[in-house]
Amino acid sequence: MQELSDTKAVIFACTDKSEKECFDRMLLGTGKIYAENALKTKKGDVLFLYNMDSDVLHGVFRAKADGAKNIIPEAWNGNYPYQVPVELEGEKKTIPNAKKILTKLGIDWHHPAGPTKKSILLRLFANPDESWSSLIPDTGFQKEERKEDEKPKLEATTLWDYPKQSYGSTPKGNNKYAGVTPAFILYNLLFRYTEPGDLVVDPMAGSGTTYDVCKEEGRRCIAYDIVPTRPEIIQNDARKIPLDDSSVDMIFIDSPYGDNIRYNEHPANIGHISAESEEFYDELEKVIRECHRVLKDGKVLGWLIGDQWVKKKFTPVGFEVYKRLSKYFDTVDIVCVVRRSQASNTGIWYNRALRFNFYLRGFKYLFIMRKAVPSKPKKAEKGVKWAYYQRGKADTKGKQEENMKHVPKVDLEKG
Ligand SMILES: C[S@@+](CC[C@H](N)C(=O)[O-])C[C@H]1O[C@@H](n2cnc3c(N)ncnc32)[C@H](O)[C@@H]1O
Repeated sequence: MQELSDTKAVIFACTDKSEKECFDRMLLGTGKIYAENALKTKKGDVLFLYNMDSDVLHGVFRAKADGAKNIIPEAWNGNYPYQVPVELEGEKKTIPNAKKILTKLGIDWHHPAGPTKKSILLRLFANPDESWSSLIPDTGFQKEERKEDEKPKLEATTLWDYPKQSYGSTPKGNNKYAGVTPAFILYNLLFRYTEPGDLVVDPMAGSGTTYDVCKEEGRRCIAYDIVPTRPEIIQNDARKIPLDDSSVDMIFIDSPYGDNIRYNEHPANIGHISAESEEFYDELEKVIRECHRVLKDGKVLGWLIGDQWVKKKFTPVGFEVYKRLSKYFDTVDIVCVVRRSQASNTGIWYNRALRFNFYLRGFKYLFIMRKAVPSKPKKAEKGVKWAYYQRGKADTKGKQEENMKHVPKVDLEKG
């Protein structure tokens, strides 16, 4: 994890409900999504507290000690375990209309404010009666810290579309590696399904995107590949993972999608087997079984895969892999990841697709699967449940009975 420079300021958020406890305990806290804001805070750093309900900014706080997890475990009923003990610098001051001011200053409270923005905030708190707009420099400062602070957006929908492969100032994987994974996918999965310090495994690590994102975001990572491309990646066949049962917090795999890419010549490379053959899915199922074995109960596996259209034949690789995955895991969700910068993203392929009337692959599936917790065993497969909804105004009884004729009776009874 990058160290938070002592020239930055961190803004914590609270609600009307949680604010009192912040002041009673002189403690600021956050959940795992913004955990790094607390963990990177060092003793002496400047902090502010933004109340999202009343739209005010409280300050100025100083960290009394480094941020850490569970300094007071029972605070906020354990809901905000990443915490920083604070003291007020001088008397408590409160600035109204905080959202408008922060937006004007280009401050996104989720990310630490850099030196210029911090100094504007400090001047604002030193002169609360002065017009805040007079404190804002004319040009350019919003962009000043953009590069360093740049972090991907956390996705809220199931459509993820990334114009580039990586983010930030350090490379994540190698974007020249055929089949490299967009680093944004890892970023989103890590922040959703892991906590800082958790162990993440990538059994088919390729150029090491998972490894690099984990390193930057403070997660431990073990990366394997049948042919390692870097010293950090360990040589191993994904069908036998050398780890204990239930020892891993998250797994990510971007597996071969068939034999469309020649990753290497290793005989155990599953990317030599055609996705049109059952053998391909049988071999991937061995990997799935191993992932299930090493993953802790209740933890998540992300699997990225695309379909195939080769020599006038479509193969639903995604559906086939999903079938195998759902034998072992519960489904959390399925995300559609837009494909970009692929080799087929050229004028020649565009013309071919139209001339020969086929489609170029436009998306990949990201299957997000969870290993069931034994106390809540995976429900046995049931028949499809049909629900009957009535449209428009209430139907007469006779009409309802007429409509019910179209609903399969046997399934209704089961449901
Ligand atoms: C799509 S690439 C992974 C890309 C990677 N996530 C990245 O960002 O660079 C698939 C990888 O699976 C590896 N692979 C194929 N068969 C394997 C096996 N049996 N065990 C481990 N890795 C394997 C290939 O060598 C290749 O690097």
